[in-house]
Amino acid sequence: MFSSGLPVVTTGAVLRGMVSEWRQTGLRIGFVPTMGNLHAGHFRLVQRARQLADRVVVSIFVNPSQFGPGEDYASYPRTFEADRAGLGDHGADLLFYPAVAEIYPRPFPSMTQVEVPGLSDILCGAVRPGHFRGVTTVVCKLLNLVQPDVALFGQKDYQQLGLIRQMVDDLSMQVAIEGVPTVREADGLALSSRNQYLSLEERSVAPLLFECLQQAAKALIAGERDWPSIESEQCARLCASGFRPDYFSIRSAHTLEEPDISTVNYIILVAARLGKARLIDNLAVTVS
Ligand code: PAF
Repeated sequence: MFSSGLPVVTTGAVLRGMVSEWRQTGLRIGFVPTMGNLHAGHFRLVQRARQLADRVVVSIFVNPSQFGPGEDYASYPRTFEADRAGLGDHGADLLFYPAVAEIYPRPFPSMTQVEVPGLSDILCGAVRPGHFRGVTTVVCKLLNLVQPDVALFGQKDYQQLGLIRQMVDDLSMQVAIEGVPTVREADGLALSSRNQYLSLEERSVAPLLFECLQQAAKALIAGERDWPSIESEQCARLCASGFRPDYFSIRSAHTLEEPDISTVNYIILVAARLGKARLIDNLAVTVS
């Protein structure tokens, strides 16, 4: 079914067999879950996995349960052959490429789901109800199938990373979670599969998202503590350039709760629509 190159498996049973052979010889397993349409940000995850493990498994699965009605599940870019070649070039050892029925043997209302309460209802979760339940359900399932020593996720999806850390902790899952710094274009735009939805004109405006995060960080470092006014100033800048922000929010980096006067570790998060794309980004700031 697949041409030569990086080995591809499509069933959990075959995947488990291969991974357990590696494990029996004492090898450490790294795992990078993706939805495909890979870019340099994903390949950075694979490179980091190579440093932390002896064998690297990557999954490509466009997970229907994390897309809401009217979102881009059907049109999400699927570029399997290019992804597979790129993964081979970046040192992946095995690609897991399951069909929907392999991951979800039962239709959704009767399928067991994993939900991290609280954290999944704020920020992106407030705008995309059910999204994070879909993410934690599929990540739990993939971690159970691969049983890696370490799994790697991009820090661009900061809230997702926090939810996965909490799920792993709450459910005593035996895997280390490694967050990997965001990869950016030269003009600051965070790499994302959804950047390709931008027109040329929108692409030229898009770096403003990171500039606004940097401006807000500067204000915090300068000692400003009127968080709502920093947030609304940057939202206004985004709106003036054609963005439709879902939120621009200054939070405590550890809890994602609203900061208070004792907060020193901040995370500034933004989600905004530009044309057909919904872009997210964040910036961590520590103040003294
Ligand atoms: O970040 C992603 O690409 C997805 O949310 C993930 C973690 C692969 C789960 O589908």
